[in-house]
Parts: sequence; C-alpha cells; structure tokens
Amino acid sequence: MSKLRIAVQKSGRLNEDSMRLLKDIGISIDNGKDQLKASAKGFPVEVFYLRNGDIPQYLKDGVVDAAIIGENVLIEKGEGINIVEKLGFSSCRVCIAVPKANGYTSIKDLEGKRIATSYPNTVQIYLDKNGVNANLHIINGSVEIAPNIGLADAICDIVSSGSTLFKNNLKEVDTILKSEAVLAVSPKLNKERQAILETIQFRIQSVLKGRN
Ligand code: PRP
Ligand code: MG
Repeated sequence: MSKLRIAVQKSGRLNEDSMRLLKDIGISIDNGKDQLKASAKGFPVEVFYLRNGDIPQYLKDGVVDAAIIGENVLIEKGEGINIVEKLGFSSCRVCIAVPKANGYTSIKDLEGKRIATSYPNTVQIYLDKNGVNANLHIINGSVEIAPNIGLADAICDIVSSGSTLFKNNLKEVDTILKSEAVLAVSPKLNKERQAILETIQFRIQSVLKGRN
C-alpha cells in the first residue's frame, strides 16, 4: 500500500508545533534526531525532515506529497503548490525594517537603497508594485545584522515577536504580508495518496476545532 509522504521542517520554529499536530491527529513517530525520514505507526504516512527552503521544490517535483510549511515560504517560491489548510500556528509577518534612527516615511524612501533579505521575490514584487528601484542583497539567515555591518540600508525578513529587530536596533516600517503554518500539497499527488490526505485533512480540521 502506498504511503503519503509529508515534509516537515527539520529544525526551526515550525518543527515542534508541526510534530505536535501530527501527534494530535494520531500520527506518532519515533523521532531520532538524526533521522531524516520516519514511518508513522499504524498509519500510511512517511515523514521527511527537510530544510524549509527546500520544501517547495520537493513539492513541485512530487518527491513529497504534502508539507507543513510557512505560507511565506510558498509565497516566495511555491508557485503552483496548493494550500489546503491553514494551521493556526507559527504566525508571523514579512516586514521591511530600517535602523531606529532612520526617518523612514514610505517605501519610496528605499529608492536606490540596498535591502538585505531572504525573500527576494516577495520584496521585488512589493517594490515593483510601488514603482521603487532598490538593490537586493540576498542572505539566508541573520538578516537583521546587515544594516549594523554596513551591508544594507534596510532589511526584509519575517517578524514574530519583534525581539530580533529590537535587539538589532531596527524598527518595523512596512508589512508586506502575513503568514502562518499551512498544509500544502504537491500538484503531482496521485489518487491513492489523495485519499490518505483527505483523512489527514479531516483529522486536522477536528483537532483545530478542538483547539479554538
Ligand atoms: C527568524 C527570522 C527573524 C526572527 C523573527 O530567524 O529570520 O530573524 O526569526 O522572530 P522574532 O520577531 O520573534 O525575533 P531565525 O531565528 O529562525 O534564524 P535565521 O534567520 O538565522 O534563519
Ligand atoms: Mg532570522
């Protein structure tokens, strides 16, 4: 019998809540930390532990059938991937931030400036929409350090509690989008696995209802 292959974040902010949700819907996994793939007990599911940024491509290629992932990652590079459930955890926003002392008034102030980000597509679309030309500097993590080391004039990154911005003397000046964890599905999902997915979706809906 075929198994539904679900990707979750290997480590990071979504991992714990993702595993809790799977457990709450009756998918229990012996999770040895170094295990990159694990089978669920008593349910036709395999869980893959992957890097956040790699998950959209795995979904597109049909290497995994579904994923628990931040909506913001799909907006950045998940074209063609369907979101079938919003999961109500890991809320965050993708924001523009600048040094506290900066007298920022609007996105137009970033004309000709350097913006450090891990979300180049998301920022570029926002800049284009506002008719602003800026230079994007792509970095994969610790983006908030960029203005302090003279690498950028502004950043665009995810904000949750705001503590990382605060610690780095930055202020949030524009919100580009809001995000939360979602259940996403590969466009290549086959019929047999679709049926397993539907059972999972049904269970997720019941669990989320119970949490409210
Ligand atoms: C994420 C994100 C922000 C921070 C936001 O970084 O890139 O830096 O969390 O959360 P906060 O508003 O609650 O401080 P993460 O710690 O995941 O590390 P990374 O940027 O190095 O990947
Ligand atoms: Mg960060």
